[in-house]
Amino acid sequence: MIRLGVLISGRGSNLEAIAAAIERGELEARIEVVISNRAEAAGLEHARRRGIPAVVLPSRGLDRETYDQMLLDELAKWRVDLICLAGYMRLLSASFIRAYPMRILNIHPSLLPAFPGLDAQHQALAYGVKFSGCTVHFVDENIDSGPIVLQAVVPVLDQDTVESLSARILAEEHRIYARAIAIVGSGKYRLEGRRVIFEPDPAQNNPG
Ligand code: GAR
Repeated sequence: MIRLGVLISGRGSNLEAIAAAIERGELEARIEVVISNRAEAAGLEHARRRGIPAVVLPSRGLDRETYDQMLLDELAKWRVDLICLAGYMRLLSASFIRAYPMRILNIHPSLLPAFPGLDAQHQALAYGVKFSGCTVHFVDENIDSGPIVLQAVVPVLDQDTVESLSARILAEEHRIYARAIAIVGSGKYRLEGRRVIFEPDPAQNNPG
């Protein structure tokens, strides 16, 4: 059973998707705690409705090191194995990341390394790509740059707006995040350089 800590800042639909996958028995994990840096995050309500402990740690006005130490202290209480960033819109400090080496996942709404940072769906439309998608990756000390666990591709249609493209990508986010957590939680992967190779047989066991 993987013990998860989920960090959010807003809507929490990825949190919902992870919780639903656990409920359906598709992911052997338990969300020990949801932590939001914003008291008004709608995702907190989703967590509470499901009986998941939901903690607000307001970040406003605090420098990164101070805040991240508070986060580490809170997470330590819940003894989580894996931290999932699910629309958590703050950068993590190097000391936080070093406290959980290869044990922090993030989901990003583009095919990294294209369009890191904010407003990825807007960036994709503005650039004119014909396909975009989403990426689940390990978090390292640079922005949206760690080794990639899973990606999913969606087409960009001529009539797309940021909203319609975001919705198409979000449906894929909800599909792949729980799968990526299952892979990482199972430990059945190895790292070759930046490549995350699934074991035992990636050819027959390709979960993408
Ligand atoms: C998702 O689209 C996620 O990929 C994105 O924020 C949204 C959160 O939605 N994350 C980032 O852009 C991180 N750089 P949610 O709160 O409904 O899960």
